[in-house]
Amino acid sequence: MNILLRGGTVVSSVNAKKLDVLISGSKIVKVARFIKDNDAQVVDVSGKLIFPGFIDAHTHFDLEVSDTVTADGFESGTKAAVCGGTTTVIDFATQNKGESLSTALNNWHIKAFSKSSCDYAFHMAISDWNDHIKEELKAMFEQGVTSFKAYMTYDTMKLSDEELFDMLSTLKELCGIVGVHCENDGIIKALTKKRLEDNTLTVSAHPKVRPSACEAEAITRLLSIAQVVDVPVVVVHLSSKDGLEAVRNARQKGAKVYVETCPQYLLLDDSRYEQNTLQGARFVCSPPLRKKEDSKALWGALKNGEIQTVATDHCSFTLQQKSVGLSDFTKMPNGLPSVESRVVLMYTYGVQKKRITLENMCRLLAENPAKLYGMYPRKGVIKAGSDADIVVFSPKADGFITKNTHHSKADYTPFEGVRTKGKVEKVYLRGKLVVDNGEVVNENKGKYIKRSKPNFI
Ligand code: URP
Ligand code: ZN
Ligand code: ZN
Repeated sequence: MNILLRGGTVVSSVNAKKLDVLISGSKIVKVARFIKDNDAQVVDVSGKLIFPGFIDAHTHFDLEVSDTVTADGFESGTKAAVCGGTTTVIDFATQNKGESLSTALNNWHIKAFSKSSCDYAFHMAISDWNDHIKEELKAMFEQGVTSFKAYMTYDTMKLSDEELFDMLSTLKELCGIVGVHCENDGIIKALTKKRLEDNTLTVSAHPKVRPSACEAEAITRLLSIAQVVDVPVVVVHLSSKDGLEAVRNARQKGAKVYVETCPQYLLLDDSRYEQNTLQGARFVCSPPLRKKEDSKALWGALKNGEIQTVATDHCSFTLQQKSVGLSDFTKMPNGLPSVESRVVLMYTYGVQKKRITLENMCRLLAENPAKLYGMYPRKGVIKAGSDADIVVFSPKADGFITKNTHHSKADYTPFEGVRTKGKVEKVYLRGKLVVDNGEVVNENKGKYIKRSKPNFI
């Protein structure tokens, strides 16, 4: 039976208009001022905002790292995602050193298959760059993996400048895109070594060994490489004003760069690390949280279009897992859980606080990631022919974030107690109601999404 969403305000990247939406099977078939369909199940959504299903293009589910594995695999991670209004995640299939890309991709298919409550796609994080890997790239594209990640730090992952150059050149030929974790590894190592010598390794040291200059330097270097290669590139999880200035400088010189930031860099600051206890450990992620002025600069960049996407970098650990690094932060698994909170946080602290418009929110969290990562117009927009991935959002609800209602297996949220405005009420995934009243009502309906080449926005 068709579903008719009646009387809501449909949000796109250009406007928010009172329109009805007709769903047939897995697709949106009509969007118009008044739709008549006597056979459809009519759902009254008056007073609600109707968003395209949001896309989180940066998650790490079931990732083995720092001698442990993330608290959330695809089962809990995608439940958390869909409850928060995210209908598609792009997770990082991650190649261990010495492994082929096909093995890594196969591993990620096994991790996700039949356990996902939202749709999912994969970027491929490449930690080994050589001729065999190069030969595998074509097969990745054939299997719908058209975006890749490179790290400029972390011993198990990092690529040299030469390798980055070659990777960008090869992917330019194939019309793929690379997202890069930008931090200067040498500075981090030197500052960490000093801490080891002084035995000052508690949580408060974590941000001190990764100053924003590390991010800015790595961004400048990456963008110089990308400019010589003459290829667009993505800076993932931008955290600092210095980093933003590096992006601006490179753009002035003609670099083509897309930028992603995350709610933690917009809403939290480095005062969280002052407590050398589990309280501070909750916030250990890389790059680290910065100063309030950094967050302010990032909000400004979201408003004026200098940043194109907001993702979470959801990489979750329990407090028990975090506690391993309490007296030596180098042993602490890095990352935060936030996949369930992104949409409501961006609505509350972006739209409601007038830092961004509703249309901006739709562009940053749905349309731009869909375009950049080759899923548009199947995903990221409410229009005839698109997948019926729809979020029915109550704009007036008051609430707060707490681990008690969250679906992540991390036993905390970095946003505990944070007040929210608005609520994800219903979520449709390819036409099926999967979330009602904030709870998953239809589990494991997520499918793998084979992506096309990027649509450079
Ligand atoms: O601390 C973080 N962000 N961990 C996740 C891996 C990464 O660097 O994106
Ligand atoms: Zn990263
Ligand atoms: Zn990440």
